[in-house]
Amino acid sequence: MSPVTLDPKNLSSGNIYDLMASLIVPRPIAFVSTLSASGIPNLAPFSFFSMGGVNPPSVVFSPGFRFDGTPKDSLQNITVTGEFVISMVTREMAEGMNATAAGLPSDESEWDLAGFTPVSSEAVKPARVLESPASFECKLFEIVRHGEQSVYVIGEIVRFHVDGNLLRDNSVESLKPISRMGGSFYADLDAMELFTMERPR
Ligand SMILES: Cc1cc2nc3c(=O)[nH]c(=O)nc-3n(C[C@H](O)[C@H](O)[C@H](O)COP(=O)(O)O)c2cc1C
Repeated sequence: MSPVTLDPKNLSSGNIYDLMASLIVPRPIAFVSTLSASGIPNLAPFSFFSMGGVNPPSVVFSPGFRFDGTPKDSLQNITVTGEFVISMVTREMAEGMNATAAGLPSDESEWDLAGFTPVSSEAVKPARVLESPASFECKLFEIVRHGEQSVYVIGEIVRFHVDGNLLRDNSVESLKPISRMGGSFYADLDAMELFTMERPR
């Protein structure tokens, strides 16, 4: 090993993104479903995503801001409605998930674009993704802003939905979601291989 030490003060935001996104891996992908104030459904992937705690069950993900400084639709919708659903993403869902990362106008729904099937939630209004083996209905706990660009959306899970074929004694042994790596790389934990997908423009 030949350690290199970097001070983030000397790096651009782009450099820091590349560094962190390739070091903090693999990251599971939160496929986030929300509704706008006027009820337009929105679906978008976020890999800055983690489990928070269990009592109450808590998750956190980080939607950044667009280059023009406006909040992404998911953040805007959660700010207004206080609700979202996170679905996990499998290899079969990968291409469709990637398609939803296109920057659509906020009055257009990514659901139509990607061909996923909405299923009504029990405790919140946004739908979950039928094709996903596991989804979490969430109510907003808090949005924490750290500086100009970093936002943490903390949610409390109010319902778990899990494919019953995978569930044994409250635990799942073979979920095998895809995960985000650095650059255009993804890890397929089922096939135990890396693959690439370019983000849509
Ligand atoms: C696999 C994947 C992971 C992503 N993770 C994030 C993320 O953690 N934070 C973020 O701000 N954008 C992330 N993006 C980009 C957003 O999905 C993209 O900006 C999207 O258009 C936001 O949609 P919205 O405006 O409907 O919320 C990711 C994209 C992909 C394909």
